[in-house]
Amino acid sequence: MPTMLNANQTLGAAFHASPVIQTAIKSILAELAQRQQTLTGAKPACGELRESLDSWLCRATDVRGRGPLYPYLGSGLGNGALVELADGSVKWDLINGIGVHMFGHSDLMLVEAMLRASLSDLVMQGNLQYNEDAIEFAEMLRDEAAKHSRLQHCFVTNSGCMANEAALKVCQQKTGGAPRIIAFADCFMGRSTTMSQIGDTAGYRQGVALNVLVDYLPFYDADFGERSMDRAIWQLEQYIHRYPGQHCALVVELVQGEGGFNTAPRDFFVTLFERARAAGIPIWDDEIQTFGRTESMFCFEHLDLGEYIDVATVGKITQACACLYTADFNPKAGLLSGTFSASSSAFATGLAILKRLRSGGFYGANGRNAQLFDAFRQQAESFVRSHPQWFPSLPTATGGESKRFVAGTGGMMRLSPFGGSKEKIGRLLNNLFEDGVIAFSCGHGPYHLRFLPPIGVMQPAQFKSVFEIMERSFARTS
Ligand SMILES: Cc1ncc(COP(=O)(O)O)c(C=O)c1O
Repeated sequence: MPTMLNANQTLGAAFHASPVIQTAIKSILAELAQRQQTLTGAKPACGELRESLDSWLCRATDVRGRGPLYPYLGSGLGNGALVELADGSVKWDLINGIGVHMFGHSDLMLVEAMLRASLSDLVMQGNLQYNEDAIEFAEMLRDEAAKHSRLQHCFVTNSGCMANEAALKVCQQKTGGAPRIIAFADCFMGRSTTMSQIGDTAGYRQGVALNVLVDYLPFYDADFGERSMDRAIWQLEQYIHRYPGQHCALVVELVQGEGGFNTAPRDFFVTLFERARAAGIPIWDDEIQTFGRTESMFCFEHLDLGEYIDVATVGKITQACACLYTADFNPKAGLLSGTFSASSSAFATGLAILKRLRSGGFYGANGRNAQLFDAFRQQAESFVRSHPQWFPSLPTATGGESKRFVAGTGGMMRLSPFGGSKEKIGRLLNNLFEDGVIAFSCGHGPYHLRFLPPIGVMQPAQFKSVFEIMERSFARTS
């Protein structure tokens, strides 16, 4: 029997609040909770399921025309940082689709949000048709950003790359179509033709017709100290002098992701931002990988840089992505639009995640993110001390040697074995996968092991089990 409508309630609201639906959702969640509890640690593949996974991977290779990076195929169930694959194996997922699944696998709150979203009349929401959750999602991002910056508006997109495309257009329109952009060496920005040109990885722009004018600044190098600041500001001066009035933006990842989890002190950015601002160059902060993971929701807040930011982009953890800008950068009608902004379930889970980030004790010097990094750092440093043979010095960009084997911040963790050798790190990643730990690489030489663990659900003590597995994989690789 449908619930009776009162005069102030839509049919949609009454349907979503129906006791039949509440009960059904509760029993689905109870069933899931019971089943996922059996996943308590990594375990190898079992019997015939291994063949089934192999055959799926052949199909994936055939349809794509290229094999996948990992023999990964999820079974659709997990428990926090643990994920079950289609071959019955269970693995510690410390990369989470490169930083997407902050609450790991089969999180009950997110499954509930998805179940509710699946009852929506819309699969995808977009420019012309959307429901309340689309507005609430953008509002919440905007409100959090506005607490520590001048950002005032939020345009939602369905990928990080599209958020960056929107940001670039906003900056270009604001500067009257200034043709050049200043970016940092080793940055990553997405895979569109424009973003793969700004992104500083040669392999990602092979064969792409180069038509974007990019001027690169060297990022901060902790081994180079103060001098790396001098080098960057000198370079910026050169560009401003050589191309006056021709830059539409200075784009920055405050912690470089793909580039190697490189961090920099506040002063480094302040010096550059002040100079760019004086030259009328907008500051665009790409937080697609950093958002949610550092010691504040937006990394600019942690570094107290909010006043400088004109445009910011977020994605990954947020499920739906977005471009935020100040009132001054609000573009003219027609510049930003799109059939798809995000799916109903991306909005529902994104909202649930933002609410949880806001109130879950993640931030600050003693917040969950900082504590998790501390647990990683302690385990990693002890690992390095116990196995010096796996940690020869790393080459630096200036021809020196570095012993910075453990680095990163918050939920962005890096370990640098085997002198940063690309070949050895590649083999190590495959061995880790086989043994039950999913990680990835970052950096462009030296290369590093990259971890983006599910910071919302991973317990500091769980790193012990992870490092026990790593020990076996390292031994096999060396
Ligand atoms: C800093 C940064 N910008 C942009 C992107 C592109 O996001 P997407 O892959 O969602 O298009 C990424 C993805 O890894 C990223 O790390």
